Amino acid sequence: SADYLREPLRPQYHFSPEINWMNDPNGLVFHDGEYHLFYQYNPAGNSWGHMSWGHAVSADLTHWQHLPLAIPEADGIMAFSGCCVVDHHNSSGFRRGDQPAMVAIYTGHGNGKQVQNLAYSNDNGRTWTKYAGNPVLDIDNPDFRDPKVFWHEATGRWVMVVSLAKEKVVVLYASKNLKDWSELSRFGPAGVAQKSNWECPDLFELPVEGGEGKTLWVLEVDMGSGSVAGGSGGEYFVGHFDGTRFTATQEAKWVDFGRDFYAPVSWSDIPQSDGRRIWIGWFNNWQTCLVPTSPWRSCMSVPRTLSLRKTPGRDDSGGDDSGGYVLVQRPVKELQQLRVHSRSIQTHGATWPPVAVTKPGELTDRVFELETTLKPGTARSVGLRIRTGDDEFTEVGYDREPGAVYVDRRKSGNVAFHQAFAGRHEAPARVLDGEVSLRLLVDRSSIEVFINDGEAVISDRIFPSGQKPTIEVFAGDESAQVTATTLHVLDSIWHP
Ligand code: FRU
Repeated sequence: SADYLREPLRPQYHFSPEINWMNDPNGLVFHDGEYHLFYQYNPAGNSWGHMSWGHAVSADLTHWQHLPLAIPEADGIMAFSGCCVVDHHNSSGFRRGDQPAMVAIYTGHGNGKQVQNLAYSNDNGRTWTKYAGNPVLDIDNPDFRDPKVFWHEATGRWVMVVSLAKEKVVVLYASKNLKDWSELSRFGPAGVAQKSNWECPDLFELPVEGGEGKTLWVLEVDMGSGSVAGGSGGEYFVGHFDGTRFTATQEAKWVDFGRDFYAPVSWSDIPQSDGRRIWIGWFNNWQTCLVPTSPWRSCMSVPRTLSLRKTPGRDDSGGDDSGGYVLVQRPVKELQQLRVHSRSIQTHGATWPPVAVTKPGELTDRVFELETTLKPGTARSVGLRIRTGDDEFTEVGYDREPGAVYVDRRKSGNVAFHQAFAGRHEAPARVLDGEVSLRLLVDRSSIEVFINDGEAVISDRIFPSGQKPTIEVFAGDESAQVTATTLHVLDSIWHP
């Protein structure tokens, strides 16, 4: 069995490479029963460099099988981020035999510029051939990258969204054959952090919850610095796409309020019978990316199902369709198969100091999920501490002022490896009928907090030293409560 999974900080159910450096997810595509996950990978070391596409597959978005390097750096040209599609109609002519070709559209980085290249596979992604006619898009620009392509049924053509990173602009292109591209339109500069860049765009249609079939389009873009919790992060626009142009109908919003969710992209070709839009993000931040793990670095978030929810948000302009849609993210349902033991936790009467609510030995595997409800009452704050150890904890709570859920990792373990790592990250949260609901996914070196059924998320890496953690709860005064708490102990892939 895989010894590497024994490392104390090794994620058990979040994807990580066995050795070496990883960043963005790439080429997410579903084909023939397999979810493919390609990723930015350095085959030669544990920090960024020699960027190539690593590869893994999964039948259930939960258990991943590592596969050999898919697209290597070659002749000084690195294989930067991009996407994959299944060319069902053989528009590209790359098919050999019965199976449709899988086509990767990715950025070639080298010789002082960034261009868009193709590679194709005729054996379900196992081996790849670079297209002899590369590049397929070259505008002589050093910051032109991260193409995401989808088939647009209504106009019968491929549409690409790709970023002019320095300009904070995304460009839309169209093609009939994936080889010849013509510009359709541009979007930006726009967004929150005007000074930062844009990379890794994604553009897709999403259902509105309870909207009786109503859909809207989402444009997601990532910035290398200046994001909500500091360092890199993503923002999204909600609006319309008419086959040519994307129009935003509300201001940009933050994708995730933690520090460690970057460059999410969504799976292509999930069958309509399934109907989900699922994405995954790099569980890291460029600013603090040299995290204290070796001989590997970085993991992915859990895969998340997306939808839109109309909320009376702070920027809702008054009941029309122009404001108040938030992107809802939920862990994919497949992850529930990891629950090996579930029980409800009694939390009556906890105030201050925090009281332990787990049994000795219960969390030795250090992988669990917690569903809980916070009732703030009139208290200043209420919440939990997880991964507690000797003078060590990560706190998750609700603060009445300013009305936000927070993750505080200042005492979470090793925070000294980078001066910007220790911190406290807040997400605005609605109190609905006196309650805020939380779902926490905890792995060996991470926490993801899904707030109010996914309408905000805080994703943070943590590097605890404690091997025998407990969960503690606290409430600022008697009016506040932590209630309805269910603990799910999850399967650790490594069984000691
Ligand atoms: C984003 C990014 C992309 C680029 C890749 C290089 O994290 O900078 O824009 O394609 O990483 O590894």
